[in-house]
Parts: sequence; C-alpha cells; structure tokens
Amino acid sequence: MINRLILLLLMCGGLPLITTAQQPFTTKFEVGEKYLKIPIKNGAAKRNVDILLNGEKVRWFNVELADDTPDWYAYLDLTAWKGNTLTIHVDSLNSNSKAFAPVVQEADDRNKADYLEPLRGQFHFSPKRGWNNDPNGMAYYKGEYHLFFQHNPYGVNWGNMHWGHAVSKDLVHWKEVGEALYPDEFGTMFSGGGVIDTENTSGLGKGGEQPLVLYYTAAEKTWNQGLAYTVDGRKFTKLPHTILDKITDGNRDPKVIWHAPSKHWVMVLYVTEANDLHTMHFFTSPDMKSWTFTSKIVGGIGDDRYMHECPEFFELAVDGDENNKKWILTGANSQYAIGTFDGKTFVPQEERLFSQHGRDYYAAQTFSDEPKGRRVEIGWWRTHTNQGASSFNQSMSIPMALTLKQTAAGARLVRTPVEELQKLRGAATKLTSKELVPEMQNLLAKVDAETAEILLTVAPKDAKIIQLTVRGLEINYDVAKQELEIDQVRAQAPLEDGKLDLQVFVDRTGVEVFAAKGAVFMPVNYNLKQTDHTYGLHVKGGKAALENLELYQLKSIW
Ligand code: FRU
Repeated sequence: MINRLILLLLMCGGLPLITTAQQPFTTKFEVGEKYLKIPIKNGAAKRNVDILLNGEKVRWFNVELADDTPDWYAYLDLTAWKGNTLTIHVDSLNSNSKAFAPVVQEADDRNKADYLEPLRGQFHFSPKRGWNNDPNGMAYYKGEYHLFFQHNPYGVNWGNMHWGHAVSKDLVHWKEVGEALYPDEFGTMFSGGGVIDTENTSGLGKGGEQPLVLYYTAAEKTWNQGLAYTVDGRKFTKLPHTILDKITDGNRDPKVIWHAPSKHWVMVLYVTEANDLHTMHFFTSPDMKSWTFTSKIVGGIGDDRYMHECPEFFELAVDGDENNKKWILTGANSQYAIGTFDGKTFVPQEERLFSQHGRDYYAAQTFSDEPKGRRVEIGWWRTHTNQGASSFNQSMSIPMALTLKQTAAGARLVRTPVEELQKLRGAATKLTSKELVPEMQNLLAKVDAETAEILLTVAPKDAKIIQLTVRGLEINYDVAKQELEIDQVRAQAPLEDGKLDLQVFVDRTGVEVFAAKGAVFMPVNYNLKQTDHTYGLHVKGGKAALENLELYQLKSIW
C-alpha cells in the first residue's frame, strides 16, 4: 500500500494526488416528465450510459458527464416510457458525482440561453444542442420541409450518431422536433436519403397514406442498410430487419430516388472496395424493400476523394430545356459527374467536375419531392463553433437551388440562393453608378450590420484589385487573374460581360460567396470579430465602375 502511494507520488512529480474513487453507478426513477436532464461538461471524461427498462437496454450513449456544475444539459425524450420505472447505469462515475444524484426530469427541453450563443449562426440552421454533420433524408412532406441530420445529442463532438430532425415551412425558419432515429442493435444511424412513396409501392402507407421513407446505414456494427418510415412526419417506425446486407465494412449513405421511365426505385450506395477504392453502387427495387445490384461507378483511391461518401443523384434540364436533360452524380466533396442513366446504369460523359470552391462544405443533399420542382441543396458547413461551454457545434449552409447551365466547356452546375431568403432582408443600403478610385472615401462607412446579404456588380476597368471587406474579412478580386481570394481560399471567377458579379451572405461564422451568376460557389468558414460590424468597398491600382450595390441587414431566423 505504502509502496503504491510512493509510486503514485513519484508519477505525479512528488505532488500529492487527489483521486476520487471511480465506480459503476446505478439508479432508478419513475418517468413522470417528458425529458431526462443530462448534465454535460465539455471535455470531461467520457462515460458509457445505459438506460434500461425491465433489465433491457432501451437507450445507450457515451457522454462527457458533469459531476458538478454543467456547461449545458442534454435532454433525453422519455415519452415512450411514461409511468414506467427506468434504470440508469453508468459504467464508471466519481463517487461524489451529482450527475444523476438526483435524477432530474423536465417538461421542456428549453434553456434561456438557447440560440443566443455568440457563435450561433443567425440564418444558418444549427441544432439547439449537440453536434451535427451531414444533412439527411431531406424531403418536402405534408406541407413541411424536413431536414434530418447526423446528430450527437449528448456532446459537441462527433459520436452517438442519431438522426436529428428539424422542419420548416419556408426553408428559412427551422424548428427542431426531436430525434427521428436512435442507434439500435444493428448500429449507429449513419447518413442516407428520404423520399415519398407516392404510389405506396412499399405497402407501408396504410389507409391511402403516402409514407415518407428514410434510408440509413446501421453503422459501426452490421453496416447493413435500414429503412424507416413515417406517415405523420413526426413518428418513425423502422423495419425490424435490414433491407440490404453489408457489401463491405464502411459501405454507407444510401440515396433513393424514383426512376419514372422504368417505374422502379433506384438506390445509390457508397461502397469502399479493396485498397480503399471509392465506388458508388446502383441498385433497383419495385417495392423499396428488396434491392438488386445493377451497376457501379469507380471513383478515386484513398485521399483522392472523387465519389467518396454521401452520393446524391438527380436529373436536371440544361438551361431548363426538358428535351435536354442530364444526370448528375456527386460525392460528399461535391465533385460531380454528368451523364446518362437508363434506370440501371449511369454512364458518365464528363467526370471530376468541381461545383464548390470553398472551405469545409461537405455531404450536401437535395430535397426530394420539392413542391416548386426545384432541386434545393443544403450542405454541412463545418464551422469553428466548438468553443468553451458551448452547447452546440457545427452548422448547415443556406439552401440553394441547383440548375444546369450550358457553357462553352459543357453543361455545368449553378447554385442560386433560394428566393425565400429574401424574407430576411432588413435595412438596406443601395448605391448605383459610382466611379471607384483608389484611396477614395469608403462608400459603406455608415453601414453597421452583424449579418448581411450583399449584391455587387462592378466593372473593373483598369483597377487591379476590387476589395469588399465584411466585418474585417477581406474578399479580394484579382482582376488580372480573375480570381477571388478569401482568407487564403482561392477560386477562379470569370468576369461576365466584363463585370464582376457577387452575391455574399455574411453570418457570424463565415461568408458564402456566389460569383459568375452562381457558377462559382465559395463558402468560407471564418469566425468574424464580434465587435466589428463594418463594411468597405475599395479598389487598388486603377479605377472601376460600380454599377450596383445592395447591402441588406439580415434578420435572425431564431
Ligand atoms: C460524411 C460521413 C458519412 C457518414 C456520416 C457519419 O460526413 O462520414 O459517410 O454516414 O458522416 O456521421
């Protein structure tokens, strides 16, 4: 004993070590309220928590439990067990921990500080609590846009993958409505798509209902593909069995669409093959539940992430011409192929095209069954929001409509922020027909805006640099190179009719820039300085002609 004490003292550089005994912890409680409050301390030791009903695990997760004063609370929905007695088991806990001593339940999952955090994007969706990555299951169903997302409800880092769920009537204002899919005995809930079974080919819609069907990967265990459905957009039922067995470990992210000409369903699944070869496999199904392999596309290897993860697959009319349609296949980094598809085999005509030129835009997906017939995309926008005691981390991009435009090089994807975003426009500053000369007075000197949308059209004439500054962040356009540069991220942005055309969205966590009428999309994550709400427009090396500038303050969606 004395020897062990001496050893401990030596290991700690001679300082006396105060240790608290660690032991398993078990307690029982009767479910009276909607939520169990789980106290979280960011960075604390991770504990494995099981929630049991009559000895059977009903929920499980690992979590940085707060022994004392928490940074924030996670809320576990207990609705399913109202009136029952549940057991909480923690694998190891400090003996004096107050984490579940006592157990606290609450009717509401709200905190006063929700959405008021200094780094909360003001018009980008982010979960109230926890971590998000990919958007999932995006569909318009029964009057609402449904945005599901990879969610860790219990921590600000990746883990415990659930499908979180938010709904919106206008693509702009989102309301979180609880977890849609919880980890189960087959695995954690990795990404996938959603689509309405309009003809009820699955038979899952009883009494004439058209179910919304969600596909996910039961990951980190079986790697099987699973199916869940809903007929009210709120309650979700999983089929008790897999609908497609694992092909290889790590296969994931099923995206399902209806192929009208062949009258069957098509699934695209990401499959890692031997030697880390990225591939997309195609399957067909008459009933959404039984799937037959038809073909595959080969992408990059290892770090060459062409066709890696999160397939998205859709058809678009070139310049709106219904007689000239093309299929687009993308992977998580938005690199895409354009080609033909006969319902079974995708034949690329052009490959490895880039559709975004920013930083940390990933795993984008589009809404199925969009009522206005648009192809609206939202991507995961990795933000630098993991700070201090914050209760949330990460964010989505703004929604953008995708179209195909014929260019000299071929048909190319173009992104346009959805018109619904214009609802957020507040106080405006407008300038037209001004000559811009170096060292001139800043035309935007009076603007004071934390969030903004800026529309700018300028003919560079003999100016070498056009510079827009937003809250201290420079957006530089190098006229000779026809290149945009923001915080060392660079993108080619050709002048159109001799003019630079920009649409810029400014939020607390970065800027999304659209140039060349949406042919260039450049999201750059960057935490803007809280105290700086200034804007500027400058030219260097010569004069330019400002044709039009509109700057709108944007309202918060929260
Ligand atoms: C992409 C991804 C997906 C996977 C999910 C897990 O960001 O790796 O391939 O399904 O995240 O959270």
